[in-house]
Amino acid sequence: MIKLGVNIDHVATIREARKGCEPDPVHAAALAELSGADGITVHLREDRRHIQDRDLKILRSTVKTRLNLEMAVEEEVVKIAEEIRPEMATLVPEKRQEVTTEGGLDVVSGKERIKEVIKRLKKQNILVSLFIDPDKKQVEKSAELKADFIEFHTGCFANTVGKEHEKETERLHLMAELAVKLGLRVNAGHGLNYWNVSEVVSMAGIEEFNIGHSIISRAVLVGLERAVREMKDAIRNAELLRKI
Ligand code: PXP
Repeated sequence: MIKLGVNIDHVATIREARKGCEPDPVHAAALAELSGADGITVHLREDRRHIQDRDLKILRSTVKTRLNLEMAVEEEVVKIAEEIRPEMATLVPEKRQEVTTEGGLDVVSGKERIKEVIKRLKKQNILVSLFIDPDKKQVEKSAELKADFIEFHTGCFANTVGKEHEKETERLHLMAELAVKLGLRVNAGHGLNYWNVSEVVSMAGIEEFNIGHSIISRAVLVGLERAVREMKDAIRNAELLRKI
């Protein structure tokens, strides 16, 4: 069965909107695991806009399934990964201005640094995945760099419709076949949701989807009814106590 890695960055984004302590991504990770998630994914960004160092440290000791750290190849975060030793590190590009990871890592132009980082992470027994676009040159270079996994950036697939979407879907499937042929293990993520996931389950070799936004968005809606009811109860109980 294809595994599900739940990306909990979005929980931390809500917390950081108030710079407070709720909702805690550590609690979200535990609930996701209790509900059957096969892994927990977090991105420690250079600007710490959502996940904080404290989250990563606690998650390292509380995640029972598998911790996947998305990270840029910046020295500061490479050192943190070597120390924290997640089960998997997914190397991603990072731009300060972007809303989210907007494209795959260019492993062709960044090959020297990526090669060095892969070597260092593997030395710590961390599986290394490269988050790349479904592009022939990127897949071939990933195999040459001896990454364990590639994660296909499914953003273009998710954000297109009609003929363009068909083309993107075919591109993903073809590149997954190539990746498997070259000995790479295959994951995919970005923009996957409850509807489009059905179109990628048949990708060659697909082992895991990493999904965040869609799951957290749904959680807000399916959990809202209970949350409102609980607040009404809290108010009513407080009023009753005051009258006693
Ligand atoms: N995989 C990677 C490498 C990502 O950077 C992201 C976005 O944080 C995801 C998966 C999850 O994408 P989404 O939040 O759109 O499901």
